[in-house]
Parts: sequence; C-alpha cells; structure tokens
Amino acid sequence: MNAPETLVLADGHARDKPLASPLSPDFADNPYATYARWRAEGPLLWSDAFFGGAWLLTRHADVESALRDVRLSAQRTGGWVMDVAEGDRAGLTPFQRLFTRALLFLDAPEHTRLRQVLMPAFRPQRLQALQPEIEQFAAELVQGIAPGEDFDFMERIARPLPVRVIARLMGVDLSLETDFMRWADDIAAFIGAVRPSPEQTRLAQRSTLEMADYFERDLLPRRRRDPQDDLVTELVQARDDGRISSDAELLAQCAMLLFAGYETTRNLLGNGMLVLMQHRAQWELLCRQPELVPGSIRELLRFDSPVQWTGRRVARSLTLHGQPLRRGELVLPMIGCANHDPDRHADPETLDVQRDNPGALSFGSGPHVCIGAALTQLEAQTLFAQLVLRLPGLQLAGAVERNGNPVYRGILRLPMRAAT
Ligand code: HEM
Repeated sequence: MNAPETLVLADGHARDKPLASPLSPDFADNPYATYARWRAEGPLLWSDAFFGGAWLLTRHADVESALRDVRLSAQRTGGWVMDVAEGDRAGLTPFQRLFTRALLFLDAPEHTRLRQVLMPAFRPQRLQALQPEIEQFAAELVQGIAPGEDFDFMERIARPLPVRVIARLMGVDLSLETDFMRWADDIAAFIGAVRPSPEQTRLAQRSTLEMADYFERDLLPRRRRDPQDDLVTELVQARDDGRISSDAELLAQCAMLLFAGYETTRNLLGNGMLVLMQHRAQWELLCRQPELVPGSIRELLRFDSPVQWTGRRVARSLTLHGQPLRRGELVLPMIGCANHDPDRHADPETLDVQRDNPGALSFGSGPHVCIGAALTQLEAQTLFAQLVLRLPGLQLAGAVERNGNPVYRGILRLPMRAAT
C-alpha cells in the first residue's frame, strides 16, 4: 500500500510538495536520495506515513543521542502492532505477547538482566571457538559454485550461511532450515511494513505461532532433558535458576535471536555483494588486497545498512530542536539516513572500503547496541575473504530483485556468474 506522505516541519508547517513515499518502488530501490532531501529539510520531521504518525530523526548526532536518551523508551510494540495492523487484530495477540518480551523492546531493569543472560554467548572468546565452523560453512558454500556457473547469490550463499551459523549457535535443528527462513521472512515483512497489510499480518501471526510451537514443544524440553553446548541450553538453565523470569520471556528471546541472527546478516551479505559489484574498482581492490576485507565490512554496513531505522517511544516529554515531543509519541532514529550524513561522513555517497573510522550507526548505539555485531561481522569477513580469493571474477548476471522492505533493506534474488 502506498500511503501518501505528508512531511510537516517541526514548526508545524506542512510541505506543499510531499516527498517520495517510503513505500514507493523508487524508495526501496534507492532511499538515499530521499534521505538527502530529508536531511536538508531539518533534523526533526513529522510524517503521517509511518505507523500512523512519527517523528523522524535525520542526522547522525541526533540519532546517536536519541539511542542513548533514557527519556525515550524501547517499549514500543504495543501501539505499533495493534494500531497499525489491519484485519484480525485479536489474532495478533500471540505475536504481541511474544515480541513485547524480547530484549530489543525492553527497558532497564528487565533489559539489563536479560542482556546479562545473553551476552556471554556473543563474547569474543566464544565467537573465536565458533570461527572454524563458520570458515567451514562458508568454504562449503563457496566451493559449491562451479567456475563459469550462473547462480543466485541469495539462494546459494547469503541465505544458507547465516541460517547455519545461528542454528549452530542456538542449537536449532538444521533440518528445519526451510521453515526457519519462512518464519523469518514473514516476521520481517510484518515488522518492516510501515502499514502491514492483512495478508502480511496473517502470515506473521502464523509463522510466529509455528516458531513458538517448535521451541515450546520440541527444542526447549529436549534441552532441559539433555543439555548441549548451545545457547538454547544456557537460556533453559537461566529460566530454571530464575535469571529468566517466565516461560514467555524465554520463548521471546529464542524467537528474537532466530529472527535477528538470520534476517539482518543475509541482508548484509546480499547488499554488500551488490554494492561491490556496482563499484567494481573497490571489489578488484579487495581481490588484490584481501587484508582490506575486515575494514570493508564496516564500510559496506555504513553504505547500505541492513537495518534502515529503529524506533523509540517518548516516555518523558522533552524538547528537541525547539519542538516539544509528547509522551507516547513515536520517534524513529533513521539509521540509514544518519549513515549518509555529510556532517559525520566525508563524501558519504562514495563507497570507500579503506575509509578511516566509518563510525556508522548500523548496529545502533547505547544500551541496545546490537548484541550480534561481532558475530555478523565475523560471518561477513569470513565469507568475503573466501570470495575474493576463490571467485574474483564474480559478476552480476541479471536483474536484481529487492525485497521492497523499507526497514530490513535487502535483496531476494541476486543473479551472478562465477566468471573465470
Ligand atoms: C548486519 C547485521 C545486523 C545488523 C545491521 C543489526 C542491527 C541492529 C540494531 C540497529 C540494533 C539496535 C536496535 C535498537 O536500538 O532499537 C540491534 C539490536 C540487536 N541485535 Fe542486531 N543486527 C545485526 C545482526 C544481529 C545478529 C547476527 C544477532 C544475533 C545473533 C543480532 C541480535 C540483536 C539483538 C538481540 C538486539 C537487541 C539488543 C538489545 O536490545 O539490547 N543482531 N541490531
């Protein structure tokens, strides 16, 4: 659905010429021209098109400080799920119940307690132990591409790699790979839509229930009976010793991790690959100097972030740029827009894999900063290091199909040729 967009400046003055709708095909293809116009309009803009009305923060400095501002609450799912979804709202209760308890949507002290439970699994030592398996998964996928072959990068590499890694980390059965990708796709389409359609709502609901059912009836009881070296076992133990306070809270963290670990990483791999193909000289530079790959991932994250914005709700009224923000209003720190702010990033529309200190906000900032940031970068570094070494002749081989999701920006089909 293409909602007409009205942008109203902070002083309440409506624009005569509405800007491109965030849901237009044009925006999904390239939001950055729209972002440049928004930044020029001002740091704080009102739009009716987002979730029935929200404040957009357009600049790096404001996005960063909003993410650290305790007057802005991470608890935002209530109105967001129920107010915007059309059709069967009552049926959304399970979705709402599950996601409101996820770490991402909690404030201190619940947030602090749960973050302490999850954090150890993402520490450098633990990731180092996982690295050989990530190397092996990546090698299998890259070696599966024959010289000269035409293939879809998303299907053969960008989707399976993060699925295998998050499944290994958590202890999720790989035989469920296909279901798992469908659950994540349906949830992403719902969360990513600024006004979800009844169909998107129904699918998200169904997938959430299926995913919850798998954990509740299958994996969690199995790990309770027979503990393994995985994150789900640790979460079950935390539930049993009281660090996780309810079964619903336990389930919410499992669902969130499965979704967050897969959806964003595959979009990093897909967006990153496309951007490098579109900037051939940068790809060739990486092929000549593979030691630049780790730094290049930070630049790819800045240049085309897999998460384009996040949200907060005003918990205590405040004034920003002279504009009062009232309790309950929604604020959207526009991450993708901030990552191209020329006040923070010199020449922001240029991809430069050697950029010094890209300092992007792709993983957020403050107490909710992405817990999986090191893991996802390790996956991307490992994969791209192998690609530049083994398949330097890679090239685009057909029309790219984007996912059209304005928040979880990504690609559905990326046809490529492994030219020799
Ligand atoms: C390129 C990949 C990724 C990107 C761009 C990304 C982005 C983000 C962002 C922007 C936030 C903060 C949201 C906010 O403040 O509202 C966040 C939080 C989070 N991310 Fe990621 N993420 C990625 C990969 C991952 C992975 C691989 C995992 C887990 C395996 C993960 C798990 C989480 C969790 C649990 C949170 C919530 C943290 C909290 O609330 O304390 N993410 N992520």
